[in-house]
Amino acid sequence: MNARQFNQVSRQRVSDDFGAAAETYDEAARLQQRVALDLLARMKAPSGGVGLDLGCGTGFSLPELERQLAPEELIAADLSPGMIDYARAHRGVDARWLVADAANVPLASGSLDWIQSSLMIQWCEDTGAVAREMARLLKPGGRAHLATLVDGTLTELESAWAEADPGRRHVNRFLTRAELEARLAEGFERVTVDVEPLVLWYPDVMALLGELKTLGARYKDEHRHRGALGPGRLKAMCRAYDRHRDPRYGVPATWQVAFVHLTGPRQ
Ligand SMILES: C[S@@+](CC[C@H](N)C(=O)[O-])C[C@H]1O[C@@H](n2cnc3c(N)ncnc32)[C@H](O)[C@@H]1O
Repeated sequence: MNARQFNQVSRQRVSDDFGAAAETYDEAARLQQRVALDLLARMKAPSGGVGLDLGCGTGFSLPELERQLAPEELIAADLSPGMIDYARAHRGVDARWLVADAANVPLASGSLDWIQSSLMIQWCEDTGAVAREMARLLKPGGRAHLATLVDGTLTELESAWAEADPGRRHVNRFLTRAELEARLAEGFERVTVDVEPLVLWYPDVMALLGELKTLGARYKDEHRHRGALGPGRLKAMCRAYDRHRDPRYGVPATWQVAFVHLTGPRQ
């Protein structure tokens, strides 16, 4: 496996899974919506100009980007045609819609003032390539605001599976903060990363797994083991996970959310 491409995830699978989830996504997207609102509150882009929501999904952030930043032109891009169709039909924004891979966006170099991207780049195989592409798209004074997930995300699920099914991976890998910073620096002179843990509570681990599936965010590595689970493994994982239970709230899932501010695009 190429060391840079630590999750071997097919773009087609990402696109298909998210496209299939478009209709139900918003009901299950409490993590995504909290993160997107936090990212919007942190955005310091001047109003006007041309802006891009990269990996817009169902378009949750688009109305607020339009209201908050009053761009001359708002562009919404996503790998999944299903997500773009949904966002275009439901968000009521005046945007230009693009089905595009974040590492290869069909826009002119130096054409954007800002880029916003919430919980998209953790799905990309090569974060450095996406950083270089964002730098290419931005004007010299342009900036990018991202939210992504880093190492330590879903740690309870990873350790419960490690106990129940040793030696077999069941959870997507996430970059460490240092790896993320190094890859983003391929595109930008100044990289600021704030990592904030966010804990969400579920009635049980099956509710967490169901939510990940509804979101199109289940484990996707191409090298994942596709055979049936050995007998009793799922039950063993549930038992291991249940040790985290708090009688007041249920079981926790931890998300390590990185809020990223990028300036000084390398051109
Ligand atoms: C977790 S969703 C987040 C959507 C939206 N930004 C939000 O906050 O609700 C991730 C989105 O990224 C898109 N995506 C994943 N890989 C991508 C890529 N390489 N290029 C563009 N979009 C991608 C998926 O199709 C999906 O819509």
